[in-house]
Amino acid sequence: MSEQTLVLIKPDGVRRGLIGEILGRFERRGLRIRGLKMLRFDVALAERHYAEHVEKPFFPALRDFITSGPVVAVLVEGPEAIQLVRSMMGQTKPSESASGTIRGDLATTTTENVIHGSDSPERARIEREIFFTDSELF
Ligand code: RTP
Ligand code: MG
Repeated sequence: MSEQTLVLIKPDGVRRGLIGEILGRFERRGLRIRGLKMLRFDVALAERHYAEHVEKPFFPALRDFITSGPVVAVLVEGPEAIQLVRSMMGQTKPSESASGTIRGDLATTTTENVIHGSDSPERARIEREIFFTDSELF
């Protein structure tokens, strides 16, 4: 079943010049890019996007990192795209991410782990509405 999922190339990925590398992986896999923009998180957006983590001990580090520079938001579409993108991303901890995955190939730390992808159909819908209006999707 075709699905849409929300990807963020995090500030470390943008700083390190990995936008093309990451978008290229999605395109080569056969996924479609339906929306694309650069933006910078403020604290309110960090608390909204990562609402499930606001009370966790790692949230201050996550908030400071995700607001530290621009991100690229991407609306990706394809068969089972939510799980497919999560598989391509690798695990949250780069040391547990297999080589061949985005984090397994490009990241070394849990906070600065290059990429976000929606983790469920409900989150994909919510995150699409956070980052894109209908007129920004193609
Ligand atoms: P994301 O939401 O960014 O796609 O990452 P994820 O699903 O793989 O991981 P999640 O559990 O949702 O955590 C969100 C982000 O918080 C940071 N984190 N740090 N130090 C820690 O123990 C810790 N745990 C999570 C990471 O940046 C993670 O991507
Ligand atoms: Mg998550």
